[in-house]
Amino acid sequence: MKKKIVIIFCILFLLIFSFFFFYFNKDEDLSYEDKFVNEGYSSDEANLILDKVSKNDYDLILEIGYDKSLINILNSNEFDENKFDDYIKYYMKNKDSNINDIITIINSGYDLTNYPASSLLASLVKEKYYINENVSRYLDYGNSVDIDTKKIIAMVNSNADLGFYSNSYDSNLNDGNLILVNKFYHLKEDYTPSDLVSLSGNYNKGTNNKMRNEAALAFMEMVDAAKLDNIILYNMSAFRSYDYQVNLYDRYIKRDGKEVADKYSARPGYSEHQSGLCSDLNNISDSFEGTDEAIWLKNNAYKYGFILRFPKGKEDITGYKYEPWHYRYVGVSAAKIIYEDNITLEEYYAYYVEKK
Ligand code: DAL
Ligand code: ZN
Repeated sequence: MKKKIVIIFCILFLLIFSFFFFYFNKDEDLSYEDKFVNEGYSSDEANLILDKVSKNDYDLILEIGYDKSLINILNSNEFDENKFDDYIKYYMKNKDSNINDIITIINSGYDLTNYPASSLLASLVKEKYYINENVSRYLDYGNSVDIDTKKIIAMVNSNADLGFYSNSYDSNLNDGNLILVNKFYHLKEDYTPSDLVSLSGNYNKGTNNKMRNEAALAFMEMVDAAKLDNIILYNMSAFRSYDYQVNLYDRYIKRDGKEVADKYSARPGYSEHQSGLCSDLNNISDSFEGTDEAIWLKNNAYKYGFILRFPKGKEDITGYKYEPWHYRYVGVSAAKIIYEDNITLEEYYAYYVEKK
């Protein structure tokens, strides 16, 4: 009798043991494919996971459970296996956002995980002149005005989103030919470039005939090249001192009032004529637009390191109305980029000079 009870106990024990053993070990024996299927993924989806996700992340997927968005992430053309963790982390914070936007934002490589995913952010990071430091301003500005992404970036990079003359910085004299003088960056009252030379003869018809040496040489080279195309160019106004600009600006204010004057004239210290790197050519008047000389300059000046400084359509970036006669020396490599990318010196400066 005693023996029987022991045997029954043993059998019971074995049964209970086997039950628990198999119950708790059941998952261990399943393949990951089966486990994904158990979570609700189809067999194709499970195989997609096996194919595209690294082994280390299988358990993460099981933790999340069935989520169709995971499959959408894996199916995206932009999917990058090495970024899977980042997609998932960002997706978990932005469950309602478009998957492609999430992928684009993560693929940009910028740390944007604290910013909500949005189509605006996704289109910003794809832009060539996107600067990560400016992202909050892009988003604020972009959400307050109805303009395209390129323009948002141009406005913010040039500080124009802050309002002209709202902040004032010293122009960096170490920037050489790329020095920025505009409605934010200014030169001190006593600044005069040390290497001014005079343009004379056929190169000049104005009283303000000085330019910095390198700019003057490039200017003459450009005028000579134009002449071979039967285009006659000459300087009308190049370097202007701070004091000269005081009188000029005063005169304009008296004539047109400050608001109008600010649209075409720089305040003293804020004119790049004080940098000795620019020239007003031939005819300082709107009627210069469309002339053979203006067209030649527009198409060729960059080859000699000059840029059209205040282009049409960029008034809200430069802060000035179109000046077809005003060309600024920046050197050939910068001029080529500015010309080819159709950007302003403000945009070039933010991206190529100022950005860390
Ligand atoms: N006309 C340009 C903007 C200047 O005054 O410097
Ligand atoms: Zn000018």
